[in-house]
Amino acid sequence: MPRITKLEDKIISPISNITQPSVLNEETQPVLEIWGGNSLNGTVNISGAKNSALVLMAGSLLCPEDCRLSNVPDLVDIRRMNQILTALGAKITKNGNTLDIDVREINPTQAPYDLVSQLRASFFAIGALLTRFGIVRIPLPGGCAIGARPVELHVKGLRAMSANVFIDSGIVHAHVTGSKRRLQGAKIYLDYPSVGATETLLMAATLAEGETIIENAAQEPEIVDLANFCCAMGAKIRGAGTNKIIISGVESLHSVDYKVIPDRIEAGTFLVAGAITHSEISLAPVIPEHLVPVIAKLETMGCRVISESSTRLKLIPGVLKATDIETLPYPGFPTDMQAQFMALLSISEGSSVISETVFENRLRHVAELQRMGANIRVKGKHALIQGVPMLSGAPVMATDLRASAALVLAGLAAQGKTIVRGLHHLDRGYENLEGKLQGLGAKLQRITSNQ
Ligand code: UD1
Repeated sequence: MPRITKLEDKIISPISNITQPSVLNEETQPVLEIWGGNSLNGTVNISGAKNSALVLMAGSLLCPEDCRLSNVPDLVDIRRMNQILTALGAKITKNGNTLDIDVREINPTQAPYDLVSQLRASFFAIGALLTRFGIVRIPLPGGCAIGARPVELHVKGLRAMSANVFIDSGIVHAHVTGSKRRLQGAKIYLDYPSVGATETLLMAATLAEGETIIENAAQEPEIVDLANFCCAMGAKIRGAGTNKIIISGVESLHSVDYKVIPDRIEAGTFLVAGAITHSEISLAPVIPEHLVPVIAKLETMGCRVISESSTRLKLIPGVLKATDIETLPYPGFPTDMQAQFMALLSISEGSSVISETVFENRLRHVAELQRMGANIRVKGKHALIQGVPMLSGAPVMATDLRASAALVLAGLAAQGKTIVRGLHHLDRGYENLEGKLQGLGAKLQRITSNQ
């Protein structure tokens, strides 16, 4: 008899493993050398949104036909998702930034542990697989560098939709009983507006019997993108982008050709690049409404962001002033921009407080910024930043994806040379960051061990 672990038992046990490659030999890994203090200028092209593309790839599992996704960024996380879908049986053809995904023949029980454990977003496929096939087996995603990141909200919601879910040896098993093996629509209240749980349950509800209402839903633009994608396949969804989403289940979905929205976090990172190097730069394409909390903070700090067209923004730098930031679910200030703003506040006049309320372990870049001369103290979830006139280049180690971007930004502003290690984090989520920065005139290059 296999030992059955109740989900609740699993969730309270601490998850300490870091799912990034754990045995990297840092000596042989590439590094980024940055010579700071140079101005940038020009226009940067913003790629498709990583977090949208990942969940749309999972969403493609909902329909038994072909899906075409365009504007998909070329990133390590996307390649991992590609491998996971392929392991499930999908046939994927990549042509530049377009993916043609054929998900006719899928085995919903063979998601590979090694890959799922490296990419949390792949767990979100549980909703699509369960609702289409009535059965799914998928490894728990585990913890990650920024926090434990449990999945009990995903599971609670699926149970409310009448799925049987249990965990055995780190694998989540779920199935639906009844002759039609169809999930049942339900009223679900999320204790926290989790992005991933909202996405899992939204996908699950598209093919469920009856109506599902998700209350206290996440309102991120990526949720709206997923809902638009599902609607383009024939789903019936109202309210995406608000805290109440209503999904009327349909019998089946059909093929779709869909373009991923621009990446608001990449765009925000480039706005900070302009601000931190006191440079005028333009960005396109962007959806300015998605950047409202980021633009508001930049303007409070003394910069201006002007709209050059409906999809193009320009950053006008200013004398940088301190401000306080609290990360929150959308439309609050995004946790995925917290590290980049910490680099910016490090050289802003006055003292600032950053409060990280979304993830419990997302201030690890502080120690690296301190190496560069930043004056920052951490108290619990708060970082107290006293601006200094300038940073100085130093060897630093990226601790997670957005932290790696923050170190690159700090390096662009610092005096002298900065060497950023741990680039596997950067490569997960930024498409050709150094090429794009070089295009704006930044002096940086990737050095591999054989150079
Ligand atoms: C997504 C984004 C990530 C972003 C985050 C918050 C993707 C692929 N990733 O991650 O870049 O930083 O939203 O904007 O889209 N939580 C629970 N139980 C659950 C689920 C979540 O306690 O079942 C907690 C998490 O531990 C975290 C908080 O809720 O503290 C927010 O997590 P969530 O919104 O779910 O983030 P992700 O969807 O994982």
